[in-house]
Amino acid sequence: MYKGRFITFEGGEGAGKSTQIKLIAETLEKLGYDVVVTREPGGSVGAEATRHVLLSGAAEEFGVRMEAFLFASARSDHVEEVIRPAVEAGKIVLCDRFADSTRIYQGVTGNIEATLLKNLERVAVNGMVPDLTIIIDVPAEIGMARATNRSAGQELDRFEKEELGTHELRRNAFLELAKEEPIRCTVVDGLGDVEDIADNVFKAVEMVLPLLPSQKKTKNKSAAQKKSNSA
Ligand code: TMP
Repeated sequence: MYKGRFITFEGGEGAGKSTQIKLIAETLEKLGYDVVVTREPGGSVGAEATRHVLLSGAAEEFGVRMEAFLFASARSDHVEEVIRPAVEAGKIVLCDRFADSTRIYQGVTGNIEATLLKNLERVAVNGMVPDLTIIIDVPAEIGMARATNRSAGQELDRFEKEELGTHELRRNAFLELAKEEPIRCTVVDGLGDVEDIADNVFKAVEMVLPLLPSQKKTKNKSAAQKKSNSA
């Protein structure tokens, strides 16, 4: 069994991650890959139970530290129950947000101590580092306008509700992160035509895709052919 890939999508509110994940999932499935689409906070039964507590703001009054622990426990369950088994089974896992969101939301704009966050991340991720992280970048103002539009009059969630300045800090922090980890992270401009953005997402994903089992057979055959020709 060949190993799959773990690809995460990050960015501020209203960046268009969900739309792009849907499109790339369809493209990969058409190519013959086995794809798992998942999200954080959530993605496993245990983690989904925590999602509401976090996004409704029910945990807010207990402090950012408590929220960071909840995100980490949800992540640990998600990694062990869903992500690792899928990657080990050769699937392509596309995850809407992962540990970078904690680094930015709880770290940069939540002011949690760096050492605590690093330790939490190490335990929660337990070696499951993304093969690729796509950061979809849009100006905070545009992202928030989209998020507000999408909520169709319903209340924004605990994090969406925050001030525009906080969203701007997050946008800059994601861009900074991409500079710090240029091998893992690729920034894709989230403005413009959805199909053009999808092309750019595919270009980045293509670089990390494993060969399909059928491609492997062809490759092995041609290697064997070369050997017998030269013998
Ligand atoms: P989303 O479904 O719009 O991505 O909502 C998830 C929200 O949770 C988003 O505002 C970012 C926030 N979040 C964190 O603050 N820390 C995390 O670790 C994750 C995964 C999400």
